[in-house]
Amino acid sequence: MRVLVIGGGGREHALVDAISREVDAKVYCAPGNAGIARQAEIVNLKADDVFPLLRFVDDNKIDLTVVGPEQPLAAGIVDAFESRGKKIFGPRKLAARLETSKVFAKEFMKRWRIPTAGFKSFTIQQQRELLDYLATARYPLVLKADGLAAGKGVSIVQSAREAEGDLDRLFVQKIFGGAGERVVVEEFLEGTEASVFAVTDGKDYVVLPAAQDHKRAGDNDTGKNTGGMGAFAPTPFVGESELATIRSAVIEKVIEGSSAEGFPFKGCLYCGMMLTKEGPKVVEFNVRFGDPETQAVLQLLDSSLLGLLEAGAIRKMSTYRLKLNNAASVCVIAASKGYPDYHKTGKEIRGLDEITASTKVLHSGTKLADGKVVSSGGRVLGVTGTDPGGKIKKAAELAYGRLAGIQFDGMFFRHDIGKTAIDLEEKKGQSA
Ligand code: AMP
Ligand code: GLY
Repeated sequence: MRVLVIGGGGREHALVDAISREVDAKVYCAPGNAGIARQAEIVNLKADDVFPLLRFVDDNKIDLTVVGPEQPLAAGIVDAFESRGKKIFGPRKLAARLETSKVFAKEFMKRWRIPTAGFKSFTIQQQRELLDYLATARYPLVLKADGLAAGKGVSIVQSAREAEGDLDRLFVQKIFGGAGERVVVEEFLEGTEASVFAVTDGKDYVVLPAAQDHKRAGDNDTGKNTGGMGAFAPTPFVGESELATIRSAVIEKVIEGSSAEGFPFKGCLYCGMMLTKEGPKVVEFNVRFGDPETQAVLQLLDSSLLGLLEAGAIRKMSTYRLKLNNAASVCVIAASKGYPDYHKTGKEIRGLDEITASTKVLHSGTKLADGKVVSSGGRVLGVTGTDPGGKIKKAAELAYGRLAGIQFDGMFFRHDIGKTAIDLEEKKGQSA
């Protein structure tokens, strides 16, 4: 089977890594990165070059295309491919609104009574009403730009004054362009976060082990929000009862609601959850696999990933048998100094060649320059450690051990990926 993976980050490296292990799979990746180039044939097209990608698929007789990032989904790549009879994994443009418009997602959740933070939405023309609302609201509050803002359109504010400063950046300075012309103001939720991926064909679905991302740049959740500095799976904070709620009150409602409203969701529904005292509530939806959660989650899959993606693409999920192992996996991201703000790239990365059975180096922002692997982004690579025995502590030790052998100028990483789960493991160990 000939497979094209679209994207060039750590998530796509994890997808390529898993697919390329399957018998008879020939994998292509556009645009890929230096790590992916070792496992797939690189296609020199950008992820949102929809029509050139379609031509590539035609010319090269690709059987299945798998979309990693959100931009091509927002641009309607699935609509374009399916209207020409091509098999592709991911939602169509209308369904992608669950990620591309926070206002749309919140109103959808309200219509289908999906548990989420209380909210109000305002347009740029309703600035006066919004300021009046902020003057009397209770704090903290969360402000969110409506459109795609690479994970940076969210701020938690403690006072009306702070909120006004953020609104100025959205409405006057327009730092997110059109994405900031509407805002959602929502209730601040307290709890532990978890990312749950449901893979669906629009009717049937399977749920992958819940993961936890670490969004802040610094240890102990300090510093700025990033795309994600590390992840682990499974997270012990999502137990059977939380999972049962997430299935019935979130995933099944999205499948039912999107279908009833004429945009049946197929692909990976990423449920960004807050586990609150009142139960799990949705913080956000994404319409694709998460990065870096995927790098950890896929290590727990024993059945065929290709089979899963194909079942999702051709609407045959009822025939797929999900098989998981009992491992635990931790992915630690190494980033460029300064990320998520200005950072230098082009730094040579050393120590990539050592191979161990229980770790993987999955590249995010890397490229080849004069035969050397150099950094080309804020998030540079992720190291996963996987413990077949299911201990997050062991998996983290493996990941950090391997990361110690890798260097590049300005490299930084968090030292506490998985810590909350490790603390819980130790508490349980002591009481056992
Ligand atoms: P989002 O892009 O909506 O996922 O938001 C990014 C991050 O902001 C989330 O992962 C949370 O850490 C935080 N966040 C977003 N919404 C809320 C909320 N209502 N309450 C508390 N934290 C939130
Ligand atoms: N890890 C966050 C995301 O993929 O959006």
